[in-house]
Amino acid sequence: MITFIVEDRDGTQVPIEIPEGINLNLMEVLKGSDYPILATCGGMALCATCRVQVINGAEQLPPPGDAELDILDTLPFVDESSRLSCQLRVNESLEGCLFRIPQED
Ligand code: FES
Repeated sequence: MITFIVEDRDGTQVPIEIPEGINLNLMEVLKGSDYPILATCGGMALCATCRVQVINGAEQLPPPGDAELDILDTLPFVDESSRLSCQLRVNESLEGCLFRIPQED
């Protein structure tokens, strides 16, 4: 099992357990768990509505790719803790991470 923690907008933290080897990205897991993630572009790294803040574990995640960096660069309200959840594969790199759902823009 891969276990990470998600903090909702009201500060509630819930551990999420995902079986290893599953072919999902974090956006799909968050949507499937009914978090308020719009993901209007469907995971194409175009809309940034799947944005999360990485509170713990950022250093263990794969670095953002060019498409992700390009869109994060265009957003004035984003800081260096922000990642696009659609670009994060659910694998052991997420183990123990804490992701916060950002407040609405
Ligand atoms: S779903 Fe649109 S950028 Fe991630």
